Amino acid sequence: MNKLTIRDAEPAGRRLFLRVDFNVPLDSKGAISDDTRIQASLPTIRYGIEHGAKLILASHLGRPKGQPVGSMTLRPAAERLAELVRSPVAFANDCVGPEVEAQARGLAAGGVLLLENLRFHPEEEKNEEGFSRRLAALADLYVNDAFGSAHRAHASTVGITKYLAPALAGFLMEREINYLSKAVENPARPYTAIVGGAKVSDKMELLQNLMKFADNVLIGGAMAYTFLKARGVEVGKSRVEDDKLELARNILSFGERRSIRIRLPEDHVVTEKLEASAHGEISAGGIPAGRLGADIGPATRAQYAAVIADSKTIVWNGPLGVFEIPQFAEGTLAVARAVAASSAVSIVGGGDSAAAVHLAGVGEKITHVSTGGGATLEFLSGRKLPGVEALTDRE
Ligand code: 3PG
Repeated sequence: MNKLTIRDAEPAGRRLFLRVDFNVPLDSKGAISDDTRIQASLPTIRYGIEHGAKLILASHLGRPKGQPVGSMTLRPAAERLAELVRSPVAFANDCVGPEVEAQARGLAAGGVLLLENLRFHPEEEKNEEGFSRRLAALADLYVNDAFGSAHRAHASTVGITKYLAPALAGFLMEREINYLSKAVENPARPYTAIVGGAKVSDKMELLQNLMKFADNVLIGGAMAYTFLKARGVEVGKSRVEDDKLELARNILSFGERRSIRIRLPEDHVVTEKLEASAHGEISAGGIPAGRLGADIGPATRAQYAAVIADSKTIVWNGPLGVFEIPQFAEGTLAVARAVAASSAVSIVGGGDSAAAVHLAGVGEKITHVSTGGGATLEFLSGRKLPGVEALTDRE
């Protein structure tokens, strides 16, 4: 990565604005149900504390549409962070203004202050100059560790860098860029892309970009039925994007011309209805009328596992079935186990695939489980992320 990092700064005694992505899932009682993203920023936060920085942490949570929303406060994140770093974390009731400025000025070396949700102000998402300047006024140094938000050109990820230079990468940002780059720059071969999820349209750019690198593309999830229908296979009442059939045909024929082996499921777990009590049956070839596909079948799992075992680089985005329902989770879990068992560089991106990896209990065996959702998808699609572009280049 050719960007300056927090290692390039001397943070002792300086106020360090650290943009983190604490956009974590909350349960119905407002408690944090998965703190992976908070944990992922701990190396940078600990580094700041140990080097005597005065840390001012900022994040968004949810999409409050530019106004304060009680259920989207970052206060629970401050409490969780305090437990994780085993030292007090102060909380500011806003992210700009005289009170926050006083709190920031009052920080001791090694102290931590978490600001309230940046998106309570509409100027954040508008990347507004005045707001960017007010955020910048809180600190002397800027570090961005919020890889998950790097695809957003917002005040705290882009605008602020105009007023608080240099813009440094935190350790999580650095790690994400380094690993994800391995998938888009000179990957070891064979390179296998596993793409699942509901919609072809969501993954179109990713699929098109993967065609530049991949030797194998394994397709699963609901989008597989659009591809199968495009190939003339019977798909019953499976979810299909009829307006994407032509696109699916183009992707398939492009793959053929480039000798990329695009594999589609050859058997399925089918059901009448997608619900928790649904009963699944195996169907080879097509899907009978009145049934819909909910997971890849056992023959496909074995075939995909064999391709995965022979790979040197694996990128996986999107579940292969409706894995939230246990009867339809086996395909996704089998792929998670196969990826974990391979010696390839393996990169898993997107919230659902990361959740599947954790459900299968194999997180430790994956080279890199990305904290990004949309950001990871855009990076792997070959796009430049504004939050990464805004970081200062190493000369
Ligand atoms: C994410 O969860 O992908 C990031 O935190 C960005 O959130 P957003 O899609 O609401 O901008």
